[in-house]
Amino acid sequence: MKKRVLITNQLPDSAFLLLRQKYQVVWNKHQLTETQLISRSRLFDALLTTLADPVTKMVLAAPRLKCVANCAVGFNNIDLEAARARRIWVTHTPEVLTEATADTAWALLLSCARRIPEGDRLVRAGKFQGAHPLMLLGVDLAGKTLGIYGFGRIGKAVARRGRGWNMKILYHQRHRENPKVERGLNARYVSFNTLLRNSDFLSVNSPLTPDTRQRFAKKEFRKMKKTAIFINTGRGAIHREKDLAEALEKRWLYSAGLDVYENEPQIEKRLLRLENCTLLPHIGSATVETRTAMALLAAENIDLVLSGRRPKTPVFTY
Ligand code: GLV
Repeated sequence: MKKRVLITNQLPDSAFLLLRQKYQVVWNKHQLTETQLISRSRLFDALLTTLADPVTKMVLAAPRLKCVANCAVGFNNIDLEAARARRIWVTHTPEVLTEATADTAWALLLSCARRIPEGDRLVRAGKFQGAHPLMLLGVDLAGKTLGIYGFGRIGKAVARRGRGWNMKILYHQRHRENPKVERGLNARYVSFNTLLRNSDFLSVNSPLTPDTRQRFAKKEFRKMKKTAIFINTGRGAIHREKDLAEALEKRWLYSAGLDVYENEPQIEKRLLRLENCTLLPHIGSATVETRTAMALLAAENIDLVLSGRRPKTPVFTY
């Protein structure tokens, strides 16, 4: 009998095309609740999930389940401890999305610095009455300091782009990088405090872990420059959304660009009213090429596990 795979939501069809060659694939086309996921997963050997799927202990109790392949680099939606306890493989999709996600961080950075969404809104509202020397003045990027919180693959790709603007690169994470990597990117390791106090642009590119949860709150925003721009394309719960809204309202910061939120899809209402805030609907890796590659990698991981081999990009190994 063919093994059974559940694809939990809409995806580029690269995953389905690969998996259907060998497996019986059920392709669900809308977001499942935890309760639905619990009852569906019982019938499957593998799940191809997205970051919005709550893969809880109850979901992982499914008797035949061998693999959960998350079509995302982050995996904070999955109970890893419960997966390990049942020797279920958990995989994710690093690398293939690095450049697209770094581009999104930079799109937000440029949008905030040059007030692009405000300009777009002004034109569409019929308020453009000709160029004016004082209209929508933003801030320069060239030669400024770009601080990066979380210097993994995506953080480094954000840093690499900063070199094009001749920026000074500072970074902070738990461990210092190898000096050769630092030299290659012209990046300097600094304390968290120095990162806060010195960054003109601060980009969050770390995963959500117990260490990084709510790392940016009122106290941290107050330490940042009043002219600073805060960007988060990592996970929303790394900052406190209410505190960020207050920081923007009180102009402790110049502006913020967010792709991720503390309780998606809900967003702190005060952010929606602020002009000095650019908001995207979690589209960090959303290009045709990248999402196709992510779906394919997730499918390859499932195929490897169901063929009795090690997956390409496991979150942990056995
Ligand atoms: C996106 O947020 C991802 O984790 O891939």
